[in-house]
Amino acid sequence: MTTSLAGPGLLAAAGPGLADHLAVHGPLPAVDVTALAEAVALTGRGGAAFPTAVKIRAVAAAAARSRRAPVVVADGGEGEPAALKDRVLLGCAPHLVLDGLTLVQRALGATSTVLAAAPDRLPAVARALAERGGAVRLHPVAPSFVAGEESALVAGIEGQPALPRWEHVPVRVRGVGGRPTLVLDVETLARLALLARGRPEAAAAALVTRRWEAAGVPRVDVVDTQPGTRLADLLPLGGVRAVLVGGYHGTWLPAAEARTLTVDPADLAAVGARLGAGVLAALPADRCGLLETARAVEHLARDPADQCGPCLDGLPRVAAALGVLAVPSPPPAGLLDDLARWSGPAAGRGACRHPDGTVRLVASALQVFADEVTAHRHGSCTATSWAPFLPVPGGAR
Ligand SMILES: Cc1cc2nc3c(=O)[nH]c(=O)nc-3n(C[C@H](O)[C@H](O)[C@H](O)COP(=O)(O)O)c2cc1C
Ligand code: SF4
Repeated sequence: MTTSLAGPGLLAAAGPGLADHLAVHGPLPAVDVTALAEAVALTGRGGAAFPTAVKIRAVAAAAARSRRAPVVVADGGEGEPAALKDRVLLGCAPHLVLDGLTLVQRALGATSTVLAAAPDRLPAVARALAERGGAVRLHPVAPSFVAGEESALVAGIEGQPALPRWEHVPVRVRGVGGRPTLVLDVETLARLALLARGRPEAAAAALVTRRWEAAGVPRVDVVDTQPGTRLADLLPLGGVRAVLVGGYHGTWLPAAEARTLTVDPADLAAVGARLGAGVLAALPADRCGLLETARAVEHLARDPADQCGPCLDGLPRVAAALGVLAVPSPPPAGLLDDLARWSGPAAGRGACRHPDGTVRLVASALQVFADEVTAHRHGSCTATSWAPFLPVPGGAR
């Protein structure tokens, strides 16, 4: 079930130390990292798949306009509960992430670099920094779904509550300390470090957190997948009801459809999905997809601070309605219409994309688990196990 790259992938070094890193990847060459990223159309791995070169150039332009040295931030917050890829990467290969930071710091002439991650990941990064030297500020990210959003991250680094900003000036123009700020996911940075070493194929590979059950035992791991890898080669899809692609801002796909797909962005886009935060989770056939989605959405609706309308009004209502729908008993009349009515306005109206991602998940659940909606309406459920499958904070991950 594992896949391999043409050369050593992001998780290839035997250990996180500098000696292992150099033995596998060699020294970091001086390169034009923006041109390299552009040549292979590298996209960001923080969820939105934004072109990395465009982002670097935008920060360079804002820095030139404002005549202020930019700040570079590595985003390892990973607030997505189903994902572990950034945590695993920071634990296994902190030097690749730090190499990526060095590359963009040099490209932009940044005078300040920050690596933000869950507090339990920072000691590994601190050890790596001690081995190689270099001034990188380490910032512990609050455990919340939205804390890794780039404007929330900037706010956290500035010592404010880690909430997305209700402001239209993007962080690439005004970020940390008012300076143009480049925020890149730690996997994006590690991929830049491989590109710099003459490894263009690394741009199309993707770290994926896989979740499945084997003989009733929950399994999770992280793999570096090559383009063209079939979902069926990554996950055992027999005895599976549906696959969650992309995480809690992602999309459910019926298992039969998932069997026909690869991890390639174009393939996934054709069915309205994307790899997002790099999550593939195979829901066992004995579970209720509505209940699993309701638990995830309850978390998504509770976690962000109530700053804007969609999160203040829309998401709690959507979560509550889904919670009712997840119970196998006839729902109040009009509940599905209410869900559609509350979901619609939530998208595109927040200061960040959190409501959009949440209602996308809900819409796909209602479509893929339509038979379950019908069963619940008649007071029954097709599931035979109610053991939680998807992780929500507070429960086992
Ligand atoms: C609600 C929300 C939460 C996010 N959380 C993270 C996160 O934990 N880690 C991350 O790298 N990006 C996260 N992002 C995306 C970041 O805002 C940003 O786009 C990303 O760090 C940029 O890096 P990239 O271009 O390398 O993808 C989040 C976005 C949203 C809307
Ligand atoms: S849309 Fe929601 S998560 Fe985003 S800033 Fe507004 S309240 Fe916060």
